[in-house]
Amino acid sequence: MCGIIGVTGNKRSVSILINGLKRLEYRGYDSAGIYVNDMNGHDYLIKRKGRISNLEAAINDNVNGMSGIGHTRWATHGEPNEVNAHPQYSADERFYLVHNGVIENFKQLKQEYLQDVHFKSQTDTEVVVQLVDRFVTKYQMDTKTALLKVLRLINPDSSYAFAMMDREQADTIYVAKNKSPLLIGLADGYNMVGSDAMSMIDETNKFMEIDDHELVIVKPDHVSIESFDSNEKHRKPFTVDMDASATDKGPYPFYMLKEIDEQSSVMRKLVQHYLPDGDPVIDDDLLAAMMKADHLYIIGAGTSYHAGLAGQRIFEALTGIHTSVHISSEFAYEHPLLSEHPFFIFLSQSGETADSREVLVQVNKHKWPSLTITNVDKSTLSREADYTLLIDAGPEIAVASTKAYTAQIAVEAILAKALGQKKEISAAEKFPLKSELSNIANGIQAITDGKDKIAAIAAHYLAKPRNAFYIGRGVDWSVALEAALKLKEISYVQSEGFASGELKHGTIALIENHTPVIGIITQDRTAGLTRSNLEETQSRGAAILTIVSRHLSMDDDTIIIPDVNELLTPLISIVPAQLLAYYTSLGKGLDVDKPRNLAKSVTVQ
Ligand code: F6R
Repeated sequence: MCGIIGVTGNKRSVSILINGLKRLEYRGYDSAGIYVNDMNGHDYLIKRKGRISNLEAAINDNVNGMSGIGHTRWATHGEPNEVNAHPQYSADERFYLVHNGVIENFKQLKQEYLQDVHFKSQTDTEVVVQLVDRFVTKYQMDTKTALLKVLRLINPDSSYAFAMMDREQADTIYVAKNKSPLLIGLADGYNMVGSDAMSMIDETNKFMEIDDHELVIVKPDHVSIESFDSNEKHRKPFTVDMDASATDKGPYPFYMLKEIDEQSSVMRKLVQHYLPDGDPVIDDDLLAAMMKADHLYIIGAGTSYHAGLAGQRIFEALTGIHTSVHISSEFAYEHPLLSEHPFFIFLSQSGETADSREVLVQVNKHKWPSLTITNVDKSTLSREADYTLLIDAGPEIAVASTKAYTAQIAVEAILAKALGQKKEISAAEKFPLKSELSNIANGIQAITDGKDKIAAIAAHYLAKPRNAFYIGRGVDWSVALEAALKLKEISYVQSEGFASGELKHGTIALIENHTPVIGIITQDRTAGLTRSNLEETQSRGAAILTIVSRHLSMDDDTIIIPDVNELLTPLISIVPAQLLAYYTSLGKGLDVDKPRNLAKSVTVQ
């Protein structure tokens, strides 16, 4: 959360910073700011509440700089307003700092060192920049020594990505990180820092990693890295192949609709990448490591956790290995008794989720083997796990995840088939995954082609109610959880995903006249039971809707979806639910892509 960008060198910085911030807006969008310096004695600080467009509108032609830092905020300490927006700066207006993360001991630092300082903001960030200034002005330290001292004083549990400027060394950006993501971008005559590669991709495709507890000094023609205990580090740059145009919205009003539509082509791409001849193409070393496992632990948050729930039964069915799925923020602090030979699978679209990374840090301490399934190559979770599989979904910009969910499940299925085949499990050997995924790609397209009908259903049933329920059994329940998350996060309808049999054990008390209850029905064994549970709610006034596989459908079903293999139904049953959420949000006139209080990349725990 929060996006950082910085640039220094032979290019005008303002447009680079604004462009970078627009690409980072998915990380937080409650306020934004830039500090730029023209390296000729003039500097400018501009901050605004709200979106990057507000900040852009406030920048006039006089604002010029060759170096600068920028920030888009998702508030943690202090309400979203101009004063709390970053860059935060020291009382003498010499040091400027942008920060992503949380400084756990900021109150103690303030108490111990800065009692006499008047603080403008409520942020933890201001404490850091005031403290650097204190060590420079009171104890005559140079800037680097002062920053290193502050970094050593920050509690190691804290998370931070910092970019700091000193107006007396206007060509230099000081950079450090712990837990929060940050990358260096290397260009011709200028260098950059950014929260992700995409924020710098219009300028360069050459990047350098920063590890935790490193201080990086970025100058126009030079980048130096040292550890907090002052050991110089040398690191090779890497290049990233990224199509910047893939982030264009094209004719779509919102990214979310584009990304829902893209799911069929993502399925086709995954088939080409991983199943060119039908047999999965998966790294042998990864499969060899997984062969030793007696239990697969899938770790994820939010939608990725839900993708794990759908994957669990695929792994168990095709590999015969016991598989469990865990919410990362829970597993990090309280996990079940682990098996003797665990293997960890991290699901993370962004590859940056702090809660999931916390689990990976612990897994690495125990030297347990791990894999990250992610959309972002070289992301933190990808770099730090033993193996990575990419989901090939292309950039997902809308805060509500759609194509990453289906792509994650497809990659889980590909991996499960590969592992099952290696174990000579006949269910895996016989599983026609290539043709199923191609069939699913067509099925998704058929659903998205019929989106007008779904828009009308959303307008009729979901525009007014405060509450809604998705229900289902087994894997349909796991889809109900994801469907409800989609609806609540972008339309603000209080929605729950429920095991349909469990509703009558208490929650049915919430059913009122016209409360929408949407049943997901794709499994032969449980279809009749879920229908009975729907009727129980209808008898109490609910407006019932259904998303049903064709072979199980009846005359008055609401949305009928193509038949696919029972293990893979989440890939298709979620699509109408994504569209229902989209059109409900759209109908309410909300910003579908940037729902309130949320950010796409959750880099605080
Ligand atoms: C919901 C959503 C979130 C993310 C969650 C994990 O639509 O996008 O629930 O799924 O924050 O993010 P990743 O997958 O990046 O680890």
